[in-house]
Amino acid sequence: EKNGFDHFMLKEIYEQPSAITDTYRGRLNVEEGIIRMAGVDDNLERFLNAKRIVIVACGTSWHAGLVAEYIFEDLARIPVEVEYASEFRYRNPIINTDDIVIAISQSGETADTMAAIKLAKEKGAFVFGVCNVVGSSISRETNAGAYTHAGPEIGVASTKAFTTQITVLTLMALKLAKAKGSISNSDFHMHLRELETIPHKIEAALESNEHIQKVAFKYKDARNCLYLGRGFNFPVALEGALKLKEISYIHAEGYPAAEMKHGPIALIDEEMPVVVIATRKGHYEKVVSNIQEIKSRQGKIIGIVTEGDTSVRDLADYVIEVPDTIEALTPLLTTIPLQLLSYHIAVMLGKNVDQPRNLAKSVTVE
Ligand code: F6R
Repeated sequence: EKNGFDHFMLKEIYEQPSAITDTYRGRLNVEEGIIRMAGVDDNLERFLNAKRIVIVACGTSWHAGLVAEYIFEDLARIPVEVEYASEFRYRNPIINTDDIVIAISQSGETADTMAAIKLAKEKGAFVFGVCNVVGSSISRETNAGAYTHAGPEIGVASTKAFTTQITVLTLMALKLAKAKGSISNSDFHMHLRELETIPHKIEAALESNEHIQKVAFKYKDARNCLYLGRGFNFPVALEGALKLKEISYIHAEGYPAAEMKHGPIALIDEEMPVVVIATRKGHYEKVVSNIQEIKSRQGKIIGIVTEGDTSVRDLADYVIEVPDTIEALTPLLTTIPLQLLSYHIAVMLGKNVDQPRNLAKSVTVE
């Protein structure tokens, strides 16, 4: 059932091109320039009149929510707040009847997310679910929703659920942007065409696997690791750090690259690997100068870069390339090497990759 792979996690990492194709199926029509999503179409007025969107989720799903915040605000110009479901439920949140709450959950069974949904409904909000498991408790409790269609995710560390969640949320944002007129026709079509190429580009990113294994070997004995990114890739840095800590038990933290100078830079020395997402789109020059700051303090730099990049290559100890795409879609590509890096490190350290200690696949208690 692992289909020849050593672990479910690796199988699921490699399934991402087909999982995302399944997420698009029946929804994305590039030729006609149409995105069909029944849960959104049936409630379009509500979405168009929403004053804001509040996203509630936990863990990796919360990271997908953060990526969605950048995408919704940039494309659809709807204000978005992203909350940990566990905080939202206990802090007497201000929710209005014209708010839309989006709950993101792979399992559809997470207790804190479920409680947040119930609270939001009590306060009169419309709740939209983004779940993977069909018929799950959360998918039944929400007013409407869109499934990710990623197929079963067995590895405790979430991989294809994350990228398919981002895919669903991107489709929603583009659909709303079109309906609101906040995106030009040519930009809209460009995004659709680019979306269609993502599965193929993920395949290309997966081809770095052996190179990533070498990078993993080099840093497997690190005690700490920093992950940095900016803009759309700041949440990817958080997710990269979470993947490393949960399966390899190496302490890792994700930060927006520019926050370095406000504290974490004090941690940098020759023992500290720093993974920096530095794709050519989005604040590239600024990230390069962040890399210079790390380098001058002897930090070890692993750059996640756009194919053909030379500036970061000159500064970094290692670079891992991903194909070029438009900025809003880069998280779907930059996530891939981070998943593989943590996978290989955990395997080299002899950890139980698919069932890390102390963790459960669905957290049904608070
Ligand atoms: C991380 C991970 C957890 C889950 C979190 C939410 O790899 O698996 O952080 O993302 O427990 O789970 P769902 O999405 O099922 O609500």
